[in-house]
Amino acid sequence: MTKVAFVTGANRGIGLSIAQRLKEDGYLVAASYRSTPPDDPNLFPVKCDVTSQTEVDEAFNEIEANLGTVEILVANAGITRDNLLPRMTEDDFTDVLNANLTSGYRLTKRAIKPMMKQKHGRIIFISSVVGITGQAGQANYAASKAGLVGLARSIAKEFASRNITANVIAPGPVNTSMIDELTEQQREKILAAVPLGRFAEPKEIAAAVAFLASDNAGFITGTIIPVDGGVGMS
Ligand SMILES: NC(=O)c1ccc[n+]([C@@H]2O[C@H](COP(=O)([O-])OP(=O)(O)OC[C@H]3O[C@@H](n4cnc5c(N)ncnc54)[C@H](OP(=O)(O)O)[C@@H]3O)[C@@H](O)[C@H]2O)c1
Repeated sequence: MTKVAFVTGANRGIGLSIAQRLKEDGYLVAASYRSTPPDDPNLFPVKCDVTSQTEVDEAFNEIEANLGTVEILVANAGITRDNLLPRMTEDDFTDVLNANLTSGYRLTKRAIKPMMKQKHGRIIFISSVVGITGQAGQANYAASKAGLVGLARSIAKEFASRNITANVIAPGPVNTSMIDELTEQQREKILAAVPLGRFAEPKEIAAAVAFLASDNAGFITGTIIPVDGGVGMS
């Protein structure tokens, strides 16, 4: 039977690219959005703010009713709210943790029981190289992305016996609106730290997700796959 994949934050950027790649690879793909649905008739659009357990639960209900059990979960939605730590408000910190890390808990909590019944599941968190290296001005974001590693590894251990894997992809800088928001000076500084001397294209992150979702990755769990042009060298 055709497997169902659910990609969050899939109306643009990396998430849209992941959703389109998984569709090309033959999955039924639910693509979540908050405001504007993805402009792609091949994806099943589902409204979901990942900071709300109610919306997460409703999104899964809708996907299950229309496509079937989600066997591939890609937690991609994420935000930044950069500032140097002395100027970072507690809301800046907790909002980023909520959207980037607690969302992973919410999504997995809803996804896991049907995956256990299915005796198959792939959970893929989109983290960031800065979760490993740290980044001035991004204490909130880096902490949230590092937290995904502990979350994935705990899930990997808790559900390995049910044939459910959990892994993390750690991209370096990728050409999306997240990068567009930076100043020219910030972009140049980031670029200077990339040994391969360029930003990634979203489809290069999607390729790593496609591999982790595939049967070829059945023996890989609890790991971090860097797609970072050499920034982290981890
Ligand atoms: N771009 C990079 O350089 C880079 C590097 C490393 C890691 N990443 C990670 O890759 C992921 C995607 O990044 P991107 O560059 O594609 O970002 P992007 O272009 O800014 O898109 C972010 C996506 O997340 C969604 N989103 C944000 N908050 C949400 C919420 N509360 N509930 C549901 N959806 C929400 C957005 O939906 P709306 O359109 O509705 O806002 C959008 O679809 C993020 O987790 C990011 O941290 C990005």
